[in-house]
Amino acid sequence: MAIVIHGASELEALRRAGRVASETLAAVTARVRAGVSTSEIDAWVREDTAARGARPSQLGYRGFPAAVCTSRNHVVCHGIPSSHEVLQDGDIVNVDVTSELHGFHGDTSVTVCVGTPSKEARHVVDMARRALEVGIAAVRPGARLGDVGAAIESFVRREGCGVVRDYGGHGIGRRMHMPPHVAHHGPGGVGPRLRVGMAFTIEPMITIGEPAVEVLADGWTVVTVDGSPTAQFEHTVAVVEGGCEVLTRPP
Ligand code: MF3
Ligand code: CO
Ligand code: CO
Repeated sequence: MAIVIHGASELEALRRAGRVASETLAAVTARVRAGVSTSEIDAWVREDTAARGARPSQLGYRGFPAAVCTSRNHVVCHGIPSSHEVLQDGDIVNVDVTSELHGFHGDTSVTVCVGTPSKEARHVVDMARRALEVGIAAVRPGARLGDVGAAIESFVRREGCGVVRDYGGHGIGRRMHMPPHVAHHGPGGVGPRLRVGMAFTIEPMITIGEPAVEVLADGWTVVTVDGSPTAQFEHTVAVVEGGCEVLTRPP
């Protein structure tokens, strides 16, 4: 399927949806601390999203039962909020917010440190944050989509970490998930040429060791096979004249 080229008015709609998602993510993560359950985070996302006139895109998506993904410690992504999962000092938790506003979607996540996690966990969080920025830096008109994954993979490898290969970023617009698939690994100089008006997410999932993952019996929760902590950051970006516009920069 072809990659949608967004025009000026669609880009403006994507900006608004991205801003809403980033504002909700900032408001919710500011409240995360030890003693909070991940289902409380889900309730906050529902309230805050509604207050901004938007809808949580993830709720009911392919049957996903919550408004937000909360992925703690060795959970790579797609963690389902639960009242039984209470955050503790030393946890790391990814909060992934996707908001639909006036028919367009914005998708963004951060990994939050609760209290003082282990040195290892803080390192993987730092690596994931930097890996996202390295990916963003590769986006400009005329570059190839593979350049994004290549930049991320070479950065992560140089630092001795792993990058998950089973999941990637995605085109975004009038649907949350659209072509293209955005790999966070692989060779540069290949794949579609980036053109002004393309919009997609970059959302590298970084591991300390081998990036082997498996899906739990609930059909959603993705975990590292070795149980080691893993972290992810995500932005929605658009290819614009001269470079890249991040549509979900925090307020
Ligand atoms: N926001 C997630 C992403 O980054 C979407 C997860 S799909 C869900 O692509 F159904 F788990 F919500
Ligand atoms: Co995404
Ligand atoms: Co997301």
